[in-house]
Amino acid sequence: MKITSVPSFSKRKGGDLCLVPFIQVKGKPLPAASIGKHTFLPIVTGDFKGKAGEVLLTHDAQFPEKRVLLVGLGPEKEVTIESLRCAYGKSSKKAAACCAQTLNVLVPSLNGLDVQNVLHGLSEGLFLAHYRFNHLRKATLKAKELLPLKQLNLVGVAPQALHPVKEAWTLAQAVYWTRDLVNNNADIVTPHYLANCAKALAKGNSKVSCRVFEEKQLKKEKLNLILKVGQGAVHPPVMIVLEYKGNPRSKEKTVLVGKGITYDTGGLNLKPSGFMEDMRTDMGGAGCCLGTFKAAVALGLKVNLACVVASAENAIDGNSYKPGDVYDSYAGKTVEIGNTDAEGRLVLADALAWSVDHLKPTRMIDVCTLTGAARIALGDHIASLMCDDECLRTQLQQASEATHERVWPLPLVESYRKDLDSTRADIKNIGRGRNAGTIIGGLFLKEFVDSTPWAHLDIASVADRDHELDYTPKEATGFGVRLLTSFLCISS
Ligand code: BES
Ligand code: ZN
Ligand code: ZN
Repeated sequence: MKITSVPSFSKRKGGDLCLVPFIQVKGKPLPAASIGKHTFLPIVTGDFKGKAGEVLLTHDAQFPEKRVLLVGLGPEKEVTIESLRCAYGKSSKKAAACCAQTLNVLVPSLNGLDVQNVLHGLSEGLFLAHYRFNHLRKATLKAKELLPLKQLNLVGVAPQALHPVKEAWTLAQAVYWTRDLVNNNADIVTPHYLANCAKALAKGNSKVSCRVFEEKQLKKEKLNLILKVGQGAVHPPVMIVLEYKGNPRSKEKTVLVGKGITYDTGGLNLKPSGFMEDMRTDMGGAGCCLGTFKAAVALGLKVNLACVVASAENAIDGNSYKPGDVYDSYAGKTVEIGNTDAEGRLVLADALAWSVDHLKPTRMIDVCTLTGAARIALGDHIASLMCDDECLRTQLQQASEATHERVWPLPLVESYRKDLDSTRADIKNIGRGRNAGTIIGGLFLKEFVDSTPWAHLDIASVADRDHELDYTPKEATGFGVRLLTSFLCISS
């Protein structure tokens, strides 16, 4: 992507599309960037009103660009970074639909939002919406559907002001990368494939190291629950440990732990039809952690970060792990399998306890598509956050505000813990009924974390969706990459 600045409206040259922003004053559209005395026909006719998120494609003989897109921002005092993401997300989709390769974006100047924030919101919207997963289409893929954008010219800003746009592009590439991983076939994205992706992230960077624990090392390290969940699959389980030393002088170390179930059949407690089809996305937590790691390294954040991925396929087979059996965990507690479909908490329990012992984190965040109940609780716009550490929780909530990747806290209610009591083992992997399923998942994990400040993000409802939003595509969303990258910036 070529990103350039053009000093003023009159200095710009041709291009495929010019984006012209409008605010609304007393219900009427008013240009939010300087365009001389020019006016557009759809404004004269009243067809374009400048409402927030309203976009209208038109032509103008006096413009050097092939087409013009009028972009509504609504009343000036209501414009926010998020409303810019939405307006420019919609614009981005219009631009792609008319195959625009070169965009001239007239940067709005707004009271109350400085140019850095304007550029931040605008470019995130443009980039995040400019995504399509085409890898699995062949015969029906039309040239029109290939992503066209090649060059972005920001009009009315100095070259030094482009920093937030370049940052947004780096971040967007990490989000695309995560979306691709989550969207791809489960037979492609196996535990071994995730390991290779992680190795590629470490390659050629002296600040990054990668270890992959295959079956033999998993046994040696006593990561028995990861082995158990993966033992029925043709694709063997792995645990991946990526480390980035971005601030060697600091003792702070954040560890992200991701659920990397590359396909969740439910195991012997087999999921019924209609509940299994999306289960290639059950590595969404791992995708999010790896994508955040990629972004942190690419942005050169001054943080010490590790990413641990517990990856297995929860397959059904003669050798699958069994409901009712009791297994050892890395932490030493025995676990009764109440349901083989509650597999995510098992692999995470081992990865969390191992991380505490071997990586000595100053704080730890796990990210996982853990429970269907998370969607029942908060719907598919908001992820569930469980965290008893006030400082960590507040920082995550601040990052959530900043990125609009929404999270909402659920309490880790101590009195529900007894639901996990087992008569045969130290703990059981499911509760008694369907109540508070998301919290029960969190309480199980809590048993495997010592006093390390820890947060649990259940992203089951937001990692993939069956509909698009203004700047987020249908299916894999890449949720959490922006949230956690922002968290790392805010808290370092
Ligand atoms: N991967 C699922 C959770 C899930 C469901 C993610 C729907 C995305 C969409 C998880 O492993 C699972 O099956 N959880 C069970 C837990 C239950 C057996 C306690 C669930 O939510 O039903
Ligand atoms: Zn499951
Ligand atoms: Zn699962």
